[in-house]
Amino acid sequence: MRLGPLTLSSNLFLSPLAGYTNLPFRLTVRELGGLGLATTDLVNARSLLEKREKALKLIETREGDRPLAVQLFGSVPEEMRDAAAYLESLGVASVDINMGCPVRKVCNVGGGSAMMTELSRTAMLVKGMVDAVRIPVTAKMRLGWDEKNLTAPDLARALEDVGVAAIFVHGRTREQGFGGRVNLAGIRAVVQAVKTLPVIGNGDITTPEAAQTMLNETGAAGVSIGRGAFYNPWIFQHTLHYLQTGELQPEPPFQERIRVMRRHLDLMIEVFGENHGCRMFRKVAPWYAKRFGPAVEFTKHVVMISTRAEFEDVLDRYCRWRAQFLDETGELKPRFQPAPMIASFMEEPGVARREHIPVPKGPVEVW
Ligand SMILES: Cc1cc2nc3c(=O)[nH]c(=O)nc-3n(C[C@H](O)[C@H](O)[C@H](O)COP(=O)(O)O)c2cc1C
Repeated sequence: MRLGPLTLSSNLFLSPLAGYTNLPFRLTVRELGGLGLATTDLVNARSLLEKREKALKLIETREGDRPLAVQLFGSVPEEMRDAAAYLESLGVASVDINMGCPVRKVCNVGGGSAMMTELSRTAMLVKGMVDAVRIPVTAKMRLGWDEKNLTAPDLARALEDVGVAAIFVHGRTREQGFGGRVNLAGIRAVVQAVKTLPVIGNGDITTPEAAQTMLNETGAAGVSIGRGAFYNPWIFQHTLHYLQTGELQPEPPFQERIRVMRRHLDLMIEVFGENHGCRMFRKVAPWYAKRFGPAVEFTKHVVMISTRAEFEDVLDRYCRWRAQFLDETGELKPRFQPAPMIASFMEEPGVARREHIPVPKGPVEVW
C-alpha cells in the first residue's frame, strides 16, 4: 500500500479516537503486528503552533511508533499550512485533516464536518497544506452532513485535484452519529468518484471478515479500524493474515488478553506517570473486559484504580471469581462465552444486532 511517497506494510489503518489513540495504545497495537499506519487523536493546529503542552503531549512519539500520522483540525488556512510544515520538520510521516468533527464551536468557524459543506474553500485550504510539505496529506470525512447532502464524492474529487494522498471515509453521515448501518454503497460512491486516489473505508469493522467484505463491496484500497481495535488489538494482525491466506485465527485466549492489557497499562504509566496513567486506564480496561466473558467483578473495581498495585489486586481477585465460569480445561463454559462480533453491515437486514459496538460516553458521541 502506497501513501504518496510512503510505502506501508499493510493497507490496515488505526482510526483516530480522541482520548484513546495515544502513544501507549498505538505501541500496544503495533507490537501485535499487521498495522500499516497509526494516527494520533485530533490536534488543534493553532495550539500546536503555540506549542501548548496539551498539543505537544498528543503528538508525543518514539522509535517503535512508526510510521505515524498526526491528525490536525482547524479552519484557518495559514495555521493549517504552518502546522503541517512544523509536523514535517519533526519527522512525522503524514498529516491527516479532520473533516468529521461535529462540535459546534469547530463547525461554526468552518472546521471539522463543516468542511464537507464548503468544497471550494476546503480545497483551497488543503492545497495550501499540500504545497507546503513533501509528506502525504490525507483527509478524513463522513459521507456528508446528512442524507440530503452526501458531499463526500464531490469533496474527494476536489481534494484529489489539489493533491491529497488518500481519503478516509466513515460510511455514515454526521447526522447519523453512530446509529444505523454503515453504508457500503456510500463508500463505493466515493471510490468511484475519484481517478486514482486511494480511498480507505471505515466504520464498524470488528472482524477480519468484515474488513474483507468492506474491501470487496466498496473497492476501497484499505480499511481503517477504530473501536474494533479496542475490543481486539489483534485485529490488524488477524485481518492481514485472513486477507493473505483466507484463514481465520482463533480469538486470543484469556491469558494473552491479560498479558496485552498489562503491557498497555505499563506503557500508560511510562508515558503519563503512575497516578494519571492508572486513572486514564480506568476507561480503557473495561474494553478489554468485553471479551473476558462474565466481568462485572472486574469492571466494577478497575474503574477505581490509582496505582499499579491496585490494578494487580483487582485482577487477582477477578481471576479467582472468574474460576466459577470455567470448565475443567480452564475454558469458559459455552454459555458464558461472549457472542461473536458482527459488523452492522454484515447482518441480515431485519435481524436484531447481537451486540452493538458501544461508543464511549462524552462529546464524541456524534463523531
Ligand atoms: C471515542 C471516539 C473518538 C473519536 N475521535 C476522533 C478523532 O479525533 N478524529 C476523527 O477524525 N475521528 C474520530 N472518531 C471517529 C473514528 O475515527 C471512526 O471514524 C469511527 O469511530 C468509526 O469507526 P469504528 O467503527 O471503526 O470505530 C472518534 C470516534 C470515537 C468513538
